[in-house]
Amino acid sequence: MSDPVRRLSPIVRLAPAKINLTLAVVGRRGDGFHDLHSVVVPLALADRLSVAPQPAGGDTLHVTGFDPGPKGDNLILRAIGATRTAATSSWPGAPAAPPALAARLEKRIPVAAGLGGGSSDAAAAIDAALEAWGASVAPEERIKLAAAIGSDVPLFMVAGSALVEGRGERVTPLHGVRRRAGESVPGVLLMTPAVAVHTAAVFAAWSAGAMAEPGIARRTSEHFASEFGSGLTVAQLIERAAVLASANDLAAAAAVVVPELVPFRRAVMRLLGRPVGLSGSGPTLWVLYPSLEEARTAAGVVSAALKDRLSAPGEGAPFVTATTIAPGHQADEAAAENAAVAIGGQARSSSG
Ligand code: C5P
Repeated sequence: MSDPVRRLSPIVRLAPAKINLTLAVVGRRGDGFHDLHSVVVPLALADRLSVAPQPAGGDTLHVTGFDPGPKGDNLILRAIGATRTAATSSWPGAPAAPPALAARLEKRIPVAAGLGGGSSDAAAAIDAALEAWGASVAPEERIKLAAAIGSDVPLFMVAGSALVEGRGERVTPLHGVRRRAGESVPGVLLMTPAVAVHTAAVFAAWSAGAMAEPGIARRTSEHFASEFGSGLTVAQLIERAAVLASANDLAAAAAVVVPELVPFRRAVMRLLGRPVGLSGSGPTLWVLYPSLEEARTAAGVVSAALKDRLSAPGEGAPFVTATTIAPGHQADEAAAENAAVAIGGQARSSSG
């Protein structure tokens, strides 16, 4: 009998970042989490994960780029472990457990930034591990696996723009950007201050009273989800930027955790003359542009200002980059089929 491990080859996955275009905290749940209503778009900015079976030893993780923190906390290793348990009966080498994996991560998404990087890595790891082992688990089971790792992980099991509800386990694909002829893919300027923000701390500040008037972000989010569900042109999306930038219920709480975020955000708004939104629980700020070129120009303006008149929270310079909303209507169409499985998902882990 051939050795199932020897037949397996390395699997590579891109794990995209996300930004929340809206984020309403709808209520507190009995389990300590919060119910959300959030419209999320994936970005071209992505980590690169590769996994390859290794015949001996345990799972390993080698990281280049941004430091993701202690290995023991890493969602990739947790995702691989949980996926192994779920896949033990379905891979070709059953009933033996699937072999150890060597994971390599190029970490290009800042960590604990509100960009969902750690959660996206975990979703990519589930997918890559299953493929590396030639195993399959039912779609509902995959979502359960994902949700058990972090509130944001199910979101990344769906490609494309999505509405996230519940704690993060209900994900509905949205059509998202519907480019008109001649329109570029929308550009996104990201500014991530050099300060890690833990999601739990921001929710704790929210619970302690750092909340906006209830219902406003929710109404914006519901209205926008319905418009974005059938698709918006790039111009229509940009027209809505000011409303979206003010529709994050965690902004006040993030400002309690990182007070310098408030003057930084105001200064960037004045500098660029555009609405500046907060992604997730922060600290990443986003600005939408009609094209990558315009986002790049803005990144240059911000980087130059940071050398003298603009000061940002944290020790050291913020990470400033221009990217795009990930194009991909095909991905959206494919996601729409998967979504029939009635999944759900947002928020983000404190590691990403
Ligand atoms: O699920 P995850 O590990 O990403 O969540 C980190 C923390 O953020 C949770 O422990 C919880 O305090 C908070 N959270 C929440 N409601 C959510 C998602 C996260 O209160 N929907």
